[in-house]
Amino acid sequence: MMSHTQDPLDLFGIDYLEFYVSNARQAAHFYRSTLGMAPVAYAGLETGLRDRTSYVLERRHVRFLLTAPNLPGHPVGDHIARHGDGVRDIALRVRDAAAAYHAALRNGAQGVLEPTTTEDSHGRIVKATIAAYGDTVHSFIERDGYRGPFMPGFRAITERPPVPETGIAAIDHIVGNVELGHMEEWVDYYRDVLGFRQMIHFDDKDISTEYSALMSKVMQNGSGKIKFPINEPAGGRKKSQIAEFLEYYGGPGVQHIALSTGDICATVDTLRDAGIPFISVPPSYYDDLEGRVGRIDESRAALEERSILVDRDEEGYLLQIFSQPLQDRPTLFIEIIQRKGSRGFGKGNFRALFESIEREQEKRGNL
Ligand code: FE2
Repeated sequence: MMSHTQDPLDLFGIDYLEFYVSNARQAAHFYRSTLGMAPVAYAGLETGLRDRTSYVLERRHVRFLLTAPNLPGHPVGDHIARHGDGVRDIALRVRDAAAAYHAALRNGAQGVLEPTTTEDSHGRIVKATIAAYGDTVHSFIERDGYRGPFMPGFRAITERPPVPETGIAAIDHIVGNVELGHMEEWVDYYRDVLGFRQMIHFDDKDISTEYSALMSKVMQNGSGKIKFPINEPAGGRKKSQIAEFLEYYGGPGVQHIALSTGDICATVDTLRDAGIPFISVPPSYYDDLEGRVGRIDESRAALEERSILVDRDEEGYLLQIFSQPLQDRPTLFIEIIQRKGSRGFGKGNFRALFESIEREQEKRGNL
């Protein structure tokens, strides 16, 4: 039995999320002006990178790497042709990338990139990559002591365009959708390969209602800092939102990124003003809110006005809201979450939320 604090791969947290996008310059503009991510580093033709362009955006503890192909017939372009814009790499920061990579391979992972060292006058980075669900990968990043902008090959972006103050502070969790019957396989992968454990208070019985049409298990690393729920579709009365994702993404992939804030009302107002559309819930959701979740600090009106959902468990409560898909395909979306003691994922909201998502699916002709 593994202890709760043990972390065999020495995972410090999420180093960055790499998105493969068709146009990195425009995607950088989108994530800056909507989520308040500041562009900090660039690599492309001007830096000697011939085949692709990458922008690095940061905000507090969140780092995005947006990568687009510069030439036809490029693997990044092939990825986009199949999946549309989406998350390619959930990169994990480690103390020793080579050790993490070899341990992962010993435990059954498939290698994608052998440990590779790059160096410049700012120091040294070691990167190694393993396969995860679908075409998604996990890179291990060792950057201790590196003082440059992001990685060797990148140059700092010195222009400072306006960046809205959105209150987004960190990545709370990242959800993966996998095919029917494959959830357990990926639960085993996170346990055996990355040394994660399943969060015990999240039982799949709780979310297998007639509305849910999905099964979910939450895997987290030893420190509890990294949380990856894994969903698979389940048979329901209607076409599952997970099945819709799998069809449009062309297989398993990252369904949503949950971003934490200390003031969800202010964050939602800023994002909505910037053009992020959120899923609205019917007014009836708020009818007996206090009866369901007890006393909360926020006013019911403030939450109802913004369609913010509330859930409580034995440790406290959480506030959450889900965006519409961020691209043309009904694939990746974001969640904004504010935790007030609860370490859960809002299972009490599943029914109301799924009914709302189904209304959106209906508009797309996918129900
Ligand atoms: Fe979530």
